[in-house]
Amino acid sequence: MLNLSKLVYGIEKKVMTKNGLHQYINLDNAASTPPFISVMKRIIEESAWYSSIHRGTGYKSQYMTEQYEHARQVIANFVNADLDEDVVIFTKNSTDSLNKLSYYLEYLPGELVIYTRLEHHSNELPWQKYKNHCVGVKDGVLDIGELETVLKANRGKVKLVAITGASNVTGYIPPIYTIAELAHEYGAKIAVDGAQLIPHKPFNKSNSNDPKNIDFLIFSGHKIYAPFGAGVLIGPRQVFTQGPPSQPGGGTVKGLTPETIIWMDPPDKEEAGSPNVLGALAIAEACETINSIGWKELVDHETSLINYAYEKISQIPGIILYSKSRTNQVGVISFNIQDIPHNKIAQALAEYGIGVRSGCFCARRLVLELMKVDIKTLGGLDKENLPGMVRISFGCYNKKSDIDLLCKALLEIINSTIKH
Ligand code: ALA
Repeated sequence: MLNLSKLVYGIEKKVMTKNGLHQYINLDNAASTPPFISVMKRIIEESAWYSSIHRGTGYKSQYMTEQYEHARQVIANFVNADLDEDVVIFTKNSTDSLNKLSYYLEYLPGELVIYTRLEHHSNELPWQKYKNHCVGVKDGVLDIGELETVLKANRGKVKLVAITGASNVTGYIPPIYTIAELAHEYGAKIAVDGAQLIPHKPFNKSNSNDPKNIDFLIFSGHKIYAPFGAGVLIGPRQVFTQGPPSQPGGGTVKGLTPETIIWMDPPDKEEAGSPNVLGALAIAEACETINSIGWKELVDHETSLINYAYEKISQIPGIILYSKSRTNQVGVISFNIQDIPHNKIAQALAEYGIGVRSGCFCARRLVLELMKVDIKTLGGLDKENLPGMVRISFGCYNKKSDIDLLCKALLEIINSTIKH
């Protein structure tokens, strides 16, 4: 078995805690992961060759252009996308990718966008400019019956079903391939926000001959050990050829006359300005690193962490868990402790050198629903008073001993809070 923590940069860093200097424990990987060492090395090596791409004639420009274009192929292979029909567009992050997709929905037939109560705001707010329907959840699990009813009632009128690959609140993985089949049966396309899924499970984007094909896939570099400011949007090339670019600018124009503009083909059409070449190479390198570790190793390790965490955390007095251990989940667990505000727990954990996230995780409606809080009954919407949860989320480098330290710290926090 590989020591996965040896593959990640900076995890030995110590921080000052209430008990002196201790190694930092990052349990906030759903927000951002640290870089792989391989990614850092690649960035350093390629920086020696860094140069303008697409535009320059010199050796360095040609070399960089080749590396940048090759990164698309590596990423396509990683998620089993078919570049005969799909295009890999480099973006800033998942939010940017989803907004670009939202722009191109104008060109898809139909009128309705279906999304779900599981979504991060990035996969909810961009659809609000269209007629939309939000499919609910029951006990944190997607209501597939409701989804099918809405699809049936709107056969041929649904532009898109937009769904997360994994919830950033509970880690739950909805059955995206079954949903893809359903969406296609009723004439709709599907987009998967893979920000939380792609770093954790193998993905099969497939192609349009397959009813389970995922038409659009979105993910971010900073959640897959490549935090250099790039993300991706993958989808049918034909969709992105329509109309003007979402952001016109340098590199998006093939020809200009006083009267006409001929736009570049995608992906160039959607990558205005000088692209984030190193960010793109970082994502490709992270994909290669995961390939070389192997999915079995990664998934087995994460599953053992998830099971161990549920077992240990559920023994904490006053714990309120918002999910249960499932086979279809990634390493994200949210909780509260009776009578201690979520932000106080997160702040107290920071004093033990443990990084978590607390609040609503940009998935406010799901969080409030799981907590059974009606937003209308809240006195104010200021950040301090909003209800929320504490979230832990695993990267491949976390260990069971991290969970032991978390639980020990939580017990001490509970004891000291009760005493005072
Ligand atoms: N979407 C990220 C999270 O869930 C930022 O923390």
